Amino acid sequence: MSKRNLNIVLLCAGKSSRLKFNLPKVILPINGKTLLERSLANLRKLDPKKTIIVTGFKKDLVVDMARSCNYKNIEFANQKSQIGTGHAVKQATSLIDKNSIVLILNGDTPFVDIDTIKQSISSYLKNNSAFTIATSFPKEVQGYGRILRDNDNQLLDIVEDKDCSSEQKLIKEVNAGLYLIDSNLLKKYIGKIKKNKNSEYYLTDLINIFVRNGLRVDSISIKDERKFVNINTFDDYKYAHDVDKMFVYENCIKNDIFLSDPNTFHKDFDVKISKNVYIGPNVILKGSTEIKENVRIEGSVYIDSSYIGKGSIIKPFTCIEESTIGSMTRIGPFCNLRPGNKIKDKVKIGNFVEIKKSSINKESKISHHSYIGDTEMGTGVNIGAGTITCNYDGFDKYKTIIENDVFVGSDTMLIAPIKLGENSTTGAGSVLTSDLPPNSLGITRIKERHIKNWKKKSKK
Ligand code: UD1
Ligand code: MG
Repeated sequence: MSKRNLNIVLLCAGKSSRLKFNLPKVILPINGKTLLERSLANLRKLDPKKTIIVTGFKKDLVVDMARSCNYKNIEFANQKSQIGTGHAVKQATSLIDKNSIVLILNGDTPFVDIDTIKQSISSYLKNNSAFTIATSFPKEVQGYGRILRDNDNQLLDIVEDKDCSSEQKLIKEVNAGLYLIDSNLLKKYIGKIKKNKNSEYYLTDLINIFVRNGLRVDSISIKDERKFVNINTFDDYKYAHDVDKMFVYENCIKNDIFLSDPNTFHKDFDVKISKNVYIGPNVILKGSTEIKENVRIEGSVYIDSSYIGKGSIIKPFTCIEESTIGSMTRIGPFCNLRPGNKIKDKVKIGNFVEIKKSSINKESKISHHSYIGDTEMGTGVNIGAGTITCNYDGFDKYKTIIENDVFVGSDTMLIAPIKLGENSTTGAGSVLTSDLPPNSLGITRIKERHIKNWKKKSKK
């Protein structure tokens, strides 16, 4: 890349008038991530010298969201009244560095990816251009500015959809909303944009101003029109969700992630999935979830902000929240892992098990119908069916410690705080209230009686 600084101007001041939302459109989510968060997540990869966000309509909402993204070198310019993209850029010019390259992006095109931007910057530099714009050829051109060229195919002007003659409406090449421009020339010419018949200042008029002043104007055509989906109307917003899903699906295929039913798979923007992962139908992966190699997630599973280690298997109808799971561990079916669990390698957690705020060490097994809460469990522990750590007395929560190689018999109630020493055993059906020393048996069963020749009561 060139030695000139990169400054970014992101246009986010507009009202969502065509969308009929009473919120800035850049704070609307698409599959769990807002347009603004998506733009910033991409732009930070360019490591720009500064990024200026132009805000206006309900600006505090936009500023707060941008700040929450922890994005470096961010500045805000305020556009008091929303009178066009040209006017919006003008509000940012005093903040733009001299002798820099300015990347101007519309805030309502959330799928412009880093490769496309880098490709556009390279083309701008290679051509030694004063102004480079990206164009595309979408199937549906309505709503986009059309590209006007002369007989030598040189860019002449951009004419907005609502201002097009019936002939111009037929033009298939449109303005994608990504502009690269020399900062000194931008500062010099931005004031030359005139108010048009719609009482707006169009940034796109700058093309013709440059052409008339003999400055070099170029375009780069981007093949994948979906990268420039522009969200103006509710139909655009709906379509953007479908496009996002298409991108997710394509990325999965590229990375050897097998989706058995792409239509019922939901993945938030920040979710990371490694290679050779199988994902069954109806799977929802949310927040900062990370799935490592060779994991198998069977159908109807919900995972939020959790880590699943290599080769683990998540069986159907399982919910995992804010937990880390080691490698080669098997969880479910019908398992509820509430927040705060650290589950290590080769653990087995079976059906109808609920675990909360607990650490479960290697090779331990909790195979059926148990509640484990606020527990520290060692390695090689076996928890029998129906075991409950009774961690709550109605007022406070207490800890259970189960050391290595403990065998907990079925239906044991462990009244916390309690510690089961290493290699100890509990008898099935016991209710333990005090610490059990290592290598001992804890049993609280009442003596069994057999009454012979017992006569059942009859209704008669
Ligand atoms: C714009 C382009 C059009 C292009 C399309 C691609 C202009 C005049 N037209 O049209 O050629 O094909 O994008 O996506 O630029 N904004 C402000 N202040 C304003 C007006 C808008 O900050 O006063 C912001 C909006 O929040 C939005 C962006 O600028 O993020 C683009 O505005 P929008 O109204 O969506 O422009 P389009 O009609 O889509
Ligand atoms: Mg738009």
